[in-house]
Amino acid sequence: MKKIFAANWKLNKTPEEAREFIIKFKNEVFKLPGFFNTKEVIIFPQAFSIEALSSLCAGTAIGFGPQNVYSEKSGAFTGENSAEVAKALKCNFALVGHSERREIFKEQNDNLNKKALLLQTLELTPVFCVGESLGQREGGKTLEVCFSQLESGLAGLDKAKRMIVAYEPIWAIGTGKVATSEQVAEVHKELNNYLQKNGFMNYQLLYGGSVKPENSAELLTLPFVDGFLIGGASLKVDSFLQICGHEII
Ligand code: PGA
Repeated sequence: MKKIFAANWKLNKTPEEAREFIIKFKNEVFKLPGFFNTKEVIIFPQAFSIEALSSLCAGTAIGFGPQNVYSEKSGAFTGENSAEVAKALKCNFALVGHSERREIFKEQNDNLNKKALLLQTLELTPVFCVGESLGQREGGKTLEVCFSQLESGLAGLDKAKRMIVAYEPIWAIGTGKVATSEQVAEVHKELNNYLQKNGFMNYQLLYGGSVKPENSAELLTLPFVDGFLIGGASLKVDSFLQICGHEII
């Protein structure tokens, strides 16, 4: 199975900067023969930059999509991102339930579930994020929190359709504190068991939280780690490419 390298650009990059990134990335990647035989790349730009990416990425092996969509297709929802418009812009993925959405914008599980359902009806692949806070980890609640986020977030989804789950411990996001290999391996194994047990047939599991060129090679070798969701280190072509460039064994 291909390893997935997903870039979460958060609130960064103008359309021009997004274009420059993709042009440079494509130039570098095409020097690496067979890159896309073993790897899949997905970019989540700021919504205003999606159109810029669309013209450069649509029809290539580089997938892309918004960092958030609203749970209704269209209507009177001022300020929200439309999944239907994302589809029209040839997006193939969307992030759902990133911890910054849950924490800062108070997004709730039932609404995140609606978003994932809507994405599936539009044939967009949800990249559904789960993860515990530091307090929850220290209280031994990591798996309970992740399972309950999955249970409500994935309710009613078509289990045969592709879905990506990103495990992102909140305490590791943007903090420079990467989870240890043991911590990642344990949670990924359990998430995999959970998804298997619940009949999901077509999914991949990403790790996210301070992934950097220095720590990514080891994390990528762990069982049930199918790739990464990368924030800070995805903003520069060089560091992103160093992470994606690891040999896949
Ligand atoms: P980080 O962000 O790599 O900067 O920790 C990851 C994410 O928020 O998806």
